[in-house]
Amino acid sequence: MGDLLVSLYAPAVEALGRRTARTDVTIRPVLAPERHVVLSWVERHFSQNWASEAAVAIGRQPSSCLIALSNGELVGFACYDAIARGFFGPTGVAEASRGQGIGAALLHRTLQAMKDMGYAYAIIGDPGPARFYIDAVGAVEIPVAGKGIYADMLRTPKPAVLA
Ligand SMILES: CC(C)(COP(=O)(O)OP(=O)(O)OC[C@H]1O[C@@H](n2cnc3c(N)ncnc32)[C@H](O)[C@@H]1OP(=O)(O)O)[C@@H](O)C(=O)NCCC(=O)NCCS
Repeated sequence: MGDLLVSLYAPAVEALGRRTARTDVTIRPVLAPERHVVLSWVERHFSQNWASEAAVAIGRQPSSCLIALSNGELVGFACYDAIARGFFGPTGVAEASRGQGIGAALLHRTLQAMKDMGYAYAIIGDPGPARFYIDAVGAVEIPVAGKGIYADMLRTPKPAVLA
């Protein structure tokens, strides 16, 4: 599926905020001194690519990388303005903490941060679980062919196979 578009003014976004309001998980922007902690967590749980994107987001002021903490422990993250302005992502929740509404809460808080920054729409680039975004905030596919901004992206070379 191609990139998705979300209206930050859609009633679905506000409704998600009501559904995900909770006090047991703290969601807040990453502080600069926490950068190394968050990046190694993202790399450990997800990938180097996502850690690179999170590094860009954490380097912005205000930080455009939000984290979710449960009992003081990092359980998820979500970024915006990482690969390009106006893009939501990457985002992820630790496997053991999935299915408890944390991903949806992070999604809402991050979209709200984008709205507060002056955006009216958010783009979700190359979404993995598109259904998550369609169901949560009424995201719609942008009908454009091709890989968009991700075309020709450099990737870590695979190690050479020894003969
Ligand atoms: C996608 C992800 C962030 C969701 O986090 P989560 O904390 O498990 O999600 P929640 O518990 O908040 O789920 C909210 C809703 O989305 C649904 N949902 C969760 N993951 C989904 C998925 N992969 N596909 C479709 N729906 C999904 C849940 O069933 C739930 O629905 P409900 O409101 O009807 O109960 C998490 O599964 C993850 O980290 N996945 C791997 C990384 C990834 O793919 N990130 C997205 C890149 S674009």
